[in-house]
Amino acid sequence: MRSRRSCLAVPGSNPRFLDKAQGLPADEVFLDLEDSVAPQAKEQARKNIVAALRTGDWTGKTRVVRVNDLSTSWTYRDVIEIVEGAGDALDCVMLPKVEDAVQVSWLDTLLTQIEKSVGLPVGGIGVEAQIESARGLVNVDAIAAASPRLETLVFGPADFMASINMRTLVVGQQPPGYTEGDAYHYVLMRILMAARTYDLQAIDGPYLQIKDLDGFAKVARRSAALGFDGKWVLHPTQIEAANEVYSPTQEDYDHAELILDAYERSTTVDRRGAVMLGDEMIDEASRKMALVVAAKGRAAGLARTKG
Ligand code: GLV
Ligand code: MG
Repeated sequence: MRSRRSCLAVPGSNPRFLDKAQGLPADEVFLDLEDSVAPQAKEQARKNIVAALRTGDWTGKTRVVRVNDLSTSWTYRDVIEIVEGAGDALDCVMLPKVEDAVQVSWLDTLLTQIEKSVGLPVGGIGVEAQIESARGLVNVDAIAAASPRLETLVFGPADFMASINMRTLVVGQQPPGYTEGDAYHYVLMRILMAARTYDLQAIDGPYLQIKDLDGFAKVARRSAALGFDGKWVLHPTQIEAANEVYSPTQEDYDHAELILDAYERSTTVDRRGAVMLGDEMIDEASRKMALVVAAKGRAAGLARTKG
């Protein structure tokens, strides 16, 4: 699995941003052809993105292009131009506003044809599906199962809030008047269940108040606590916060590695399925929880401080 703690949005119409993004410590960059690019700039943006993928240095980053959604006239040319032009320098295509499984199947088929035509390994390019409407959420299980190319489900809060008529204009914040609980809990959990059922990553969407880093961290912690793997970042200042929030703490990471050691010792040497680690009783389920935290910690480059 690729690390996607921070997924940086870069408008394809802005060559300066395409250049600058290469030096930033985001786990993923997605070069955008959709909502951050004006209709008149879409064609030039395709060319900018192909050039940036071809000639840029994206070492260490997952490279994604977000194409336009299937209700527009742009999607098929987006996919063809990007993949024919730079398919060997691309990890995934992100499809926005996915409403049902056939839309993912369409993209899968088109990618297969292009891969065959230009001599790329078939199935090599992955897909990220944005869930950002009521219909997309209702169909999320079928969408998650639609293609072996799928790597992530991505929550799109801005379009989603518009789709359900949520009564606020501030993405990620609780709508005024909703005083109990978290207005986003259901949708985040619904996406997470579908993602985990089909072994996909779950990624949280953007936080638009880019000067409000505390607000960003608060919203990020909310989805990280549930189990989300990362979040979009719109500005360099949000990257570090996302990388931190979606990595386990050093303490949790050390604890997870200790659980794995103790459990391994108890099952293989002592042949016991449950054992004490300090004051804590651990068993096979503890091992599974520890594996998740340890894997995320290792992927984030953490090193053990307790042996
Ligand atoms: C992202 O695409 C969103 O709509 O929030
Ligand atoms: Mg959107």
